[in-house]
Amino acid sequence: MPVKFRSGEFVPLEMHKARMVQRLNLLPVEERLKASQEAGNNTFLLKNRDVFLDMLTDSGVNAMSQAQYAAMLNADDSYAGSETFYRLEEALTEVFGTKYFLPAHQGRACENIICQTFIKPGQTVLMNYHFTTTKAHIMRNGGTVVEIIRKEGLEVKSDLPFKGDLDIERLRQEIKTTGADKIAFLRIEAGTNLVGGQPVSMANMREAVKIAKDAGIMTVFDASLLADNLYFIKLREKEFADVSLRDITLEMGKMFDLSYFSARKLGCARGGGIITNREDLYNSMISLVPLYEGFLTYGGMSVREMEALAVGLRETLDFHVIEQTPIFVQALVNELQASKISVVTPAGGLGCHVNAMEFCEHIPPGEYRAGALAIAAYIAGGFRGMERGTISEVRNADGSEHFAEMELLRLALPKRVFTLSQIKYVSDRLSWLHENRRLIGGLRFTFEPEVLRFFFGRLEPVSDWPQKLAKKFRADFGDSL
Ligand code: F0G
Repeated sequence: MPVKFRSGEFVPLEMHKARMVQRLNLLPVEERLKASQEAGNNTFLLKNRDVFLDMLTDSGVNAMSQAQYAAMLNADDSYAGSETFYRLEEALTEVFGTKYFLPAHQGRACENIICQTFIKPGQTVLMNYHFTTTKAHIMRNGGTVVEIIRKEGLEVKSDLPFKGDLDIERLRQEIKTTGADKIAFLRIEAGTNLVGGQPVSMANMREAVKIAKDAGIMTVFDASLLADNLYFIKLREKEFADVSLRDITLEMGKMFDLSYFSARKLGCARGGGIITNREDLYNSMISLVPLYEGFLTYGGMSVREMEALAVGLRETLDFHVIEQTPIFVQALVNELQASKISVVTPAGGLGCHVNAMEFCEHIPPGEYRAGALAIAAYIAGGFRGMERGTISEVRNADGSEHFAEMELLRLALPKRVFTLSQIKYVSDRLSWLHENRRLIGGLRFTFEPEVLRFFFGRLEPVSDWPQKLAKKFRADFGDSL
């Protein structure tokens, strides 16, 4: 909860206390340099033991509540018909107002089932913006992604409160030019991940869904980042200031033909699921669950995680729970802006997104600015973020590079994990790096997988810039870590 200090400063006060902690390790800069080389200059390939603050993602690494841990002990371990399943199903009905639930081991597993079931080769999927795994599944099933986010969504700096909103005019046009029968579905992603964790307004969702429904197009909601999106609706959309989180969520659940989520994000557990009120859609997907995931009453999830998820979903309707990440993101954004570092604004959910296009403007676009910044930040501070730029994109059919619209370093803030002094530390090391940004150089692939190359691709620096950066750090900080 933001509280005002005597100085006038607003501080993101934690409305929880830590009663279980994990020891951290901060390596000297020379060892960070070595670890970055061993990881092929890809932060995904770093060993967590070499990482001080793991800001790669919030996925599956959010802090759980004591009520979630307590519920885990209550799990009913059974292959079929477990009590745990029915408890989770009940929680989903309570939160989203939906009747049918298909469990899956995580969000991309839901995408696999949805895309296999509903995409015919040559069809288009309309959406505000893609997520990496979503796009990969759509393409694998012969579909094409068409993004119709408002243009402000792709601008680093904007005043638009809902940068994840769809461009309604473009939606109408796409339906007209493509033809409803060539559109597999309209997908709206809450808390639009790749444009900086930016929310979608209820007004925009309602309008877009109505247009799709009128045209006979199925609507799909990716609710993985719903918690942050709910916070921004409460805060920024006047009509909902006095509407309960429960009522907002119920309306969303009922609005879409089907919704899915990564429970590594939503509900702070590990797993995923597809929910719907339409029996016909449920029946058309049902056989893929035992084939790819597990029996219909666990879908690849551990029953302990399912119990934690049922509690976590209900906790998503507690404003103090969902506000913690966005107010910490805002705090980091404020700190970085004070150091003249360009970041995505307004501050979104999920994490702080540093604009590598500006930070590394001296690096040619083909040498992966955001990837270079990610590894430079690890060398400078031992924290790891995630490249969300060209490396995370897919090459064009002719093999040429598809340059991302934004080159971002995402510093994710797992829910209720980090403290304000850790945020200040990240900001301090990044402001040092910004002052020394000319020392950062480009990267090139030495091993480039064809699918989702950002996960396990290996890169090398185009010069000995990482060594020079580490040397400068040692010269400036002396004995300090
Ligand atoms: N949809 C969105 C919006 C996501 O952010 C993610 C995952 C998924 C789907 C896939 O879910 O990981 O459970 O298979 N995002 C993670 C991230 C990986 O780091 O942002 P999953």
